[in-house]
Amino acid sequence: MICRLSDGPRALTPCSIVIFGASGDLTARKLIPALYHLHGEQLLPEPLRVIGFARREKTDESWRRELREALEQFSRTRPVDAGQWGTFASNLHYCRGDLTEAAAYQRLARQLEGFGEAALGRNILFYLAVSPSQFGAVVEHLQRVGLLERDPPMPAWQRVVVEKPFGHDLTSARRLNAELTRFAHEQQIFRIDHYLGKETVQNILMFRFSNAIFEQLWSRQAVDHVQITVSERPGVGGRGGYYEEAGALRDMVQNHLLQVLALVTMEPPVTLESESIRDEKVKLLKSIRPIPPEAVGRHVVRGQYAPSQVEGQPLPGYRQEAKVAPDSDVETYVALRLFIDNWRWSGVPFYLRTGKHLPLSASEVRVQFRPTPHVLFAARCGETLDANALTLRLQPNEGISLRFNGKVPGTSVAVRPVRMHFSYDSEFGAYTPEAYERLLLEALAGDATLFIRRDEVEAAWSIVDSIRAGWAGQALTEAEFYPAGSWGPAGADRLLAAGGHQWRNPQPAS
Ligand code: BG6
Repeated sequence: MICRLSDGPRALTPCSIVIFGASGDLTARKLIPALYHLHGEQLLPEPLRVIGFARREKTDESWRRELREALEQFSRTRPVDAGQWGTFASNLHYCRGDLTEAAAYQRLARQLEGFGEAALGRNILFYLAVSPSQFGAVVEHLQRVGLLERDPPMPAWQRVVVEKPFGHDLTSARRLNAELTRFAHEQQIFRIDHYLGKETVQNILMFRFSNAIFEQLWSRQAVDHVQITVSERPGVGGRGGYYEEAGALRDMVQNHLLQVLALVTMEPPVTLESESIRDEKVKLLKSIRPIPPEAVGRHVVRGQYAPSQVEGQPLPGYRQEAKVAPDSDVETYVALRLFIDNWRWSGVPFYLRTGKHLPLSASEVRVQFRPTPHVLFAARCGETLDANALTLRLQPNEGISLRFNGKVPGTSVAVRPVRMHFSYDSEFGAYTPEAYERLLLEALAGDATLFIRRDEVEAAWSIVDSIRAGWAGQALTEAEFYPAGSWGPAGADRLLAAGGHQWRNPQPAS
């Protein structure tokens, strides 16, 4: 029996999407492939126009050709369906312009008007795939030419989608928020964290609040500690320049890991409305105990990958990557212990870690339950009796596993952990839409649930800023380097050992 909370796809109004930064990687790798698939599944509004806005000289035709080539490489389904591409591509247009040039926005306005249907020039999703330093100028120009209104007359709508990174600290995030909200209401701003577009991340709330048995156990009474791991096999590759400015703490913890933590630990929202859900996330983020700069060494471990050999292949260290300073102290790994000072979670450690060039790419949340009392089997087995654990595997091999102990069949008395496993693939068949497909649809529908609210982004930055302050001016020590392809610096193991815990590494696909 399926309980449907909505009746199939939402009816979307005809509109235009304007992508600023259309020559960039994100457009070719993520946005256009996502729109192409949505078109194929007939989920896009009809009619819809997409305008790519960028500086380079291109025609509609040449831009379409470029995107088609990129699609061959980045589409999640191949080969690209020529017919489907053809109908989709006829809606793609290009507008050449500099983000600071007023005349370019007038051209854009004329182009939108030229589509000949009022809704296409009035209902607009502005996608800012540009540097945050340009957000302010773009919205200001849009407002000046009348394309972005704070209170457009109903039923017109205009929304602004902004990509991460949303600032580089709390001060810059506040500044960005102020710049954006000069010309748009907070309700018109959709801040992306693509993790929220992942099916498994969305399932966290469903799993927690539609199952009585787990929610009963979801507190300090039953949970010993929680581990959240987002490990990545590749190094920084061609993104050295960006990474030098970001580092793992800003690139991954401030957004993706804290978002997952918030969903795993927040209180039940009052309703399923976006504001109720986001209210609870903010409350949770605000109840994370700040780590003062002087205590960072006790609660946070950073690392940087060093050259190594994996399966006979040499792997460069981070400092050897392109556009990285040879003496860079930027962290490519971070592990931290957080406490949530609220009634439910008081005293429970939350261990978060993420890193580049780890042994495999996998994201998971492991909820480790308290051990049994030290009598009967525990008294006899000691450390070898595994505590129960529930693992939410976010990617790949999406699924949920429950580990508990069982008797090894036979005449001897032996107990070992066994696993009950739910796999998305085996249960529902392969269904792997890209996070961007979901996020674009939600933004087109005006549903902000999967986007980050202003106070949420600010709360996350204040946690991260305090950690950065503790690292300020401190060069990496020898012990903070880890061989590329390993599970990070030894300090991360000590961080858990101090609480009597140890990391459980995600397992490769079986
Ligand atoms: C991005 C980070 O936000 O997330 C990247 O900037 C990282 O550094 C990526 O590789 C990870 O996303 P996913 O979906 O591959 O887990």
